[in-house]
Amino acid sequence: MQSDDLKDLILEAAKIIARAKLVLSFTGAGISAESGIPTFRDSGGLWEKYRVEDVATPEAFMRNPKFVWEFYLERKKKIKEANPNPAHYALADLERILRESGKSFYIITQNIDNLHREAGNKNIIELHGNIWYTKCSNSFCEKSRPFYDPRTSPEEYEDFPPRCSSCGSLLRPHVVWFGEPLPEDAINESFRLASLADVVIVVGTSGAVFPAAYVPYITREHGGKVIEVNIRTSSLTSISDVFLMGRAGEILPRIVEEVKRALK
Ligand code: APR
Ligand code: ZN
Repeated sequence: MQSDDLKDLILEAAKIIARAKLVLSFTGAGISAESGIPTFRDSGGLWEKYRVEDVATPEAFMRNPKFVWEFYLERKKKIKEANPNPAHYALADLERILRESGKSFYIITQNIDNLHREAGNKNIIELHGNIWYTKCSNSFCEKSRPFYDPRTSPEEYEDFPPRCSSCGSLLRPHVVWFGEPLPEDAINESFRLASLADVVIVVGTSGAVFPAAYVPYITREHGGKVIEVNIRTSSLTSISDVFLMGRAGEILPRIVEEVKRALK
């Protein structure tokens, strides 16, 4: 990919975004890679070290809640040390400049690391939950509503794995495991926005996990454009109108700079 090709693609992407009324960004673990948070399916990714069936399914949790809790507390420790990177800040910038131009911008993220919020975005839909929230595993319990939980080590809990103070059931991270339904309001709102969006900027996702990965397909089916930023092709590249190969931390700020220029 010649740099002038990339330059042309950045201009083309910025033109599509500047013309749009409703812009979405659909993000995956790749947008947080430059913050030092491992992705899942890249080499050295989480699913190379752990088996999904041991740490990210309801069955795994029932079988060995202590091991699952240790997995998530390790991830919380790593995420706590991480900061938003230029890709996150570019999307926070984009939300601000689009809002100032009377347009709408939403992030629909698969990530549970909270970095979009820390970067300053307001309109965020978290499809797979948020690692900083915990809830009672008994859905009939009043504590099944997720509550903020900054603890990152077993010693910080009265008992481990932690139990609910009101019903005694196990507490669990507020994240969506394989085989579980996504939060209904989150997926319904995401699909509604995807059907109305003029463009969805897909950043750092393999597009391997559904129903989340339907989002760009829905936008395309309703006549919206798909822009993809990734260091390599993904299963979404074939439906992208503009594919920008490179690091999100390098490409997104350049796209946002061109959008600012176009909106002047
Ligand atoms: N810039 C842009 N893209 C990147 C970067 C980067 N710096 N680094 C990695 N990527 C890309 C990879 O090429 C890959 O396509 O990010 C993507 C990461 O893919 P996955 O590891 O599969 O992560 P993700 O798509 O978010 O996984 C979806 O799967 O395991 C579940 O719940 C988990 O939400 C997750 C879901
Ligand atoms: Zn309870």
